[in-house]
Amino acid sequence: MKRILTKTDAALVALQTGAAEDFADPAFSDAVIGWQKQHGRHALPWQNTCDAYRIWLSEIMLQQTQVTAVIPYYQKFLQSFPTVESLAAAPSEAVMAHWSGLGYYTRARNLHRCAQRVAEEYGGRFPDDPELLADLPGIGRSTAAAIAAFAYGKRAAILDGNVKRVFARVFGVEGFPGAKPVEDQLWRRAVALLPQTDMESYTQGLMDLGATLCLRGKPACDRCPLAQRCVALATDRTSELPVRKPKKAVPEKETMMLVVSDGDEVLLQQRPDSGIWGGLLSLPELAVSRDADEFGLAVEDAMKPFGAIAACRKLQPFSHVFTHFKLHISPYQVVLKKRLPHIAESVHVWYPIAELADAPLPAPVKKLLLEVLREDDLLN
Ligand code: ADE
Repeated sequence: MKRILTKTDAALVALQTGAAEDFADPAFSDAVIGWQKQHGRHALPWQNTCDAYRIWLSEIMLQQTQVTAVIPYYQKFLQSFPTVESLAAAPSEAVMAHWSGLGYYTRARNLHRCAQRVAEEYGGRFPDDPELLADLPGIGRSTAAAIAAFAYGKRAAILDGNVKRVFARVFGVEGFPGAKPVEDQLWRRAVALLPQTDMESYTQGLMDLGATLCLRGKPACDRCPLAQRCVALATDRTSELPVRKPKKAVPEKETMMLVVSDGDEVLLQQRPDSGIWGGLLSLPELAVSRDADEFGLAVEDAMKPFGAIAACRKLQPFSHVFTHFKLHISPYQVVLKKRLPHIAESVHVWYPIAELADAPLPAPVKKLLLEVLREDDLLN
């Protein structure tokens, strides 16, 4: 579906750099609100409530994760932590265990810290001012606005990845939306386009358009309430807008992981709080060495506090892709002759195999362990 362009390209370029008042257009929000009421999503588990705790929790989970993946986590999380106070008081291991598998674990650590601040500084009630919300851990400008709009009906602009795509297409915005000047311009538009009322429907409408119609791959322009005003559609550039991030080569890293079980326990290691999988448990790791003798010595060395090695076998290598790099993992299964008494220290722990399914482990590590130990019939 295409329409004849009524504005000249020069005028469009001028519009792209204009001041906030140039961007105001009540017909835009009317179209979004009308469409949302009729065709948007109305039965997501975090809708039809003004409970800021529930709304906040959903928005944090939805920051980097799809709705379908979030729903079971959201429900289980609320069962275990029904209020912000209960979350604030929970041990961090319990919070991490509930997040295990959702990825981007900084979110979980910030979530816990945020709950503690809301409990201590705000008596358990999330503030309604987007600026105060954005001062809390893990809450950026867009998430603050979503919480303020959904929980308190506040006039505040959201601009997440989906909304950037809608705006970039509708207004024909050139340039990568993650670049500062382009993003600034999109924020000015987002603020200028806010309606006077119906903030909940408008905010949800923008999210719904981005998630259900204005898709990156195959936008459903024939059903879009903004099609009549969409520059990308009119100029046949929906596949070019928004402009993609300039590509950088993805760095690749390698590591070796050791699966060491003894009886009904497996050896795990606490990861440092910062960096990948921060705060989670994982497997002991070794730096990769290509030399077989060197590898043998390194494993022996790493296992010294736990016992002499009876056997070591190579398991199937696999890769895991993070946002900034790709990690190639070579796992090895180590069998000890006789396990030494455990010297209590903060980093290693012999963990019950029967409890692995609920352990705060990164998803690929949990998958590896469950596969290897099931193969060995240590799990039922
Ligand atoms: N993504 C971010 N926030 C959302 C919400 N409230 N509903 C659906 N998807 C979302």
